[in-house]
Amino acid sequence: MKSCRTWVANGNFKFMLNLPVDTSHPEYQLFFHRDGTSDKMVIDFNATSDRVVSPSKLAHVVLRTNNLQEMVTYYTTFLGGQVIYENEMLAFISYDEEHHRIAILGAPGTQPKQKTSCGLEHIAFTFTSLSTLLLSYRQRKQKGIPPLWPVNHGPTTSIYYRDPDGNMIETQVDNFDDPDAATEFMKSEHFAENPIGADFDPEDWIRQISEGKPEAALKIREEVGPRGLPDFF
Ligand SMILES: [Fe+2]
Repeated sequence: MKSCRTWVANGNFKFMLNLPVDTSHPEYQLFFHRDGTSDKMVIDFNATSDRVVSPSKLAHVVLRTNNLQEMVTYYTTFLGGQVIYENEMLAFISYDEEHHRIAILGAPGTQPKQKTSCGLEHIAFTFTSLSTLLLSYRQRKQKGIPPLWPVNHGPTTSIYYRDPDGNMIETQVDNFDDPDAATEFMKSEHFAENPIGADFDPEDWIRQISEGKPEAALKIREEVGPRGLPDFF
């Protein structure tokens, strides 16, 4: 359970605690105070805090398009998802417990994407293992969705795509089991020298895994020295 440090008021006392981010977590109830007339626990909404309570999760991304049907087909195929609701102007796509992770909005007057304008650069989806990341890559390829850029960033191994409108999508697996180890790597001299990563060939990695090479060995980033972003950015 992730937590954040926050000031909590309990009766006449105010103290700093690690407050669980997930407010449905039972421990969250401990940081409420009694309302004085019953055992009912209530949040002190007037308590001051040095930071705002964080959301429990990132819920969804909505993409605006002038190409609704092609985008809906692409994203349902890409994510192995399903359309939960759609009409002539919008569609909600789900692939897990959330009712929609991606929505596509065909709002009137939408102009083509300007690749170099400000705004969302890409959306990243995490897979549970390198093998499932590579399996999804292979399945997309079989369905006519080619990758744009396979790269081992260091903290993650990632395969990028571009959707029919030109939006970038990242599929990734964490290279470190321990998030603190990933943070350590991002503070290392190797990452300072090259925060972009080392390109790899997914077909070669599929072959190596099929021949028995451990995922952990492949996920150790090759150090290729300083480099810049690819030309397509
Ligand atoms: Fe990313």
